[in-house]
Amino acid sequence: MRVLGIETSCDETSSSVVEGGRNILSDVIASQVDLHARFGGIVPEIASRKHVELVNVVIQEAVDKAGITLRNIDAIAVTNRPGLLGALLVGVSAAKAISAALGLRMVGVHHLEGHIYANFLANPDLQFPFICLIVSGGHTDLVLVRDHARYEILGRTRDDAAGEAFDKSARAMGLGYPGGPIVDKLAKDGNPEAVHFPRARLEGLDFSFSGIKTAVVRYFQEHENELPIEDLAASFQAAVVDMLVNTTMAAVERTGIRRVALGGGVAANSGLKRRMQEECDRLGIELTYPPPRLCTDNAAMIACAGYHRILRGDVSGLDLDTIASQPLTG
Ligand code: KG4
Ligand code: ZN
Repeated sequence: MRVLGIETSCDETSSSVVEGGRNILSDVIASQVDLHARFGGIVPEIASRKHVELVNVVIQEAVDKAGITLRNIDAIAVTNRPGLLGALLVGVSAAKAISAALGLRMVGVHHLEGHIYANFLANPDLQFPFICLIVSGGHTDLVLVRDHARYEILGRTRDDAAGEAFDKSARAMGLGYPGGPIVDKLAKDGNPEAVHFPRARLEGLDFSFSGIKTAVVRYFQEHENELPIEDLAASFQAAVVDMLVNTTMAAVERTGIRRVALGGGVAANSGLKRRMQEECDRLGIELTYPPPRLCTDNAAMIACAGYHRILRGDVSGLDLDTIASQPLTG
C-alpha cells in the first residue's frame, strides 16, 4: 500500500510517499524557518499563508520524486491534530480534495503519533511494548507504547517543552532561532561542567524546564561574555539532557520495559543521543531513534502512522476536523 503523507501542523510544509509503512519513496520538506527567524518564533498567520502557497507544489513534488502519479496512491494520511489551527486546515483541506477527487481512503493522524512512528521508519523491527520520549518544540511526553495506537502517558512537562527551553535559552544567549540546532553545534566545543544549572526533579515521571530557562537568562544577564558561549551552551544542554535521560531511565525502572525510543526535534540532539545510548548500553536496554531528518517535522512519519491505522480499518470521512490541542490517547 502506498500512502501519501501530508504534514502542515507548524512551520514545515511536508509531503511524502511511503510504501508498505516502511519504504520512503519520497520525503519533501519545505521549511519556513528563515521566514519566522526574524520574529524569534513562529507567527501562526504567516505560517498558514505560506502553507497555502506551498502545499500543492510540495505534494506534487513528493509524487514526482516517488516516480509515480497521484493515481498510483492507495491512501492519504494527514496531520489533523494538535497544531496551529490555520496551518492544520491547509493540509487537511488538501488531503480532503485529493481524497474526494480520486476516491482514496484518508485518515487523520495525531502529530505525536507521527513522531513515535518515525522510529518504525528507522527500525522496522522495533517490537512492542516500548517507552517513547517525545521531545519537540511543543511537547515533552514520556509515552508507554503498548501496541499500535495503544498509548499510556507516563509523564509530561508541567511547563515548557524541551524544545521551547532550547529556543528560549538560545534567545537569551543572543543566538538565533530555532535555538536547538545552534546550541547543539556550539555545545560540541564547550565544557558541560563550566556552569552547574539546576536540574528539576519532580515526583513521578513529569518534567519541568522553566527553572533552567530562567537560570540561563539570569546567568547571562549577570555574567554576559565572562564565559565562552560554547561553555554556556554545553552546560545548559547537559542539564536538559540529564533531566531527560534520568526521567526516561526512571520510567524504564518503574515499568520494567527494556526498550526505549526517541522522537521529535530535540531527539536530533547529539548530546541527548550520546547520553541516552550510554545509559541504555550500561543497563542492557535497546535504544532506537530516527535520523535527524525524521526527528523534526516530516510527512514520512505521518504516512507511516497512517498506514498502520488504515491497515486496521481506521478511516476518516470528509468531515475530518482539525484540533489545536489534544493529548495523545488510545
Ligand atoms: O518536532 P519539531 O520539528 O516540531 C514540533 O513538533 O515542535 O521540533 C522542533 C524543536 C525546536 O524547538 C528545535 O529547537 C528543536 O526541536 N531541535 C533541537 C535540535 N534540532 C531541532 N533541539 C536540540 N538539538 C537539536 N539538534
Ligand atoms: Zn513535531
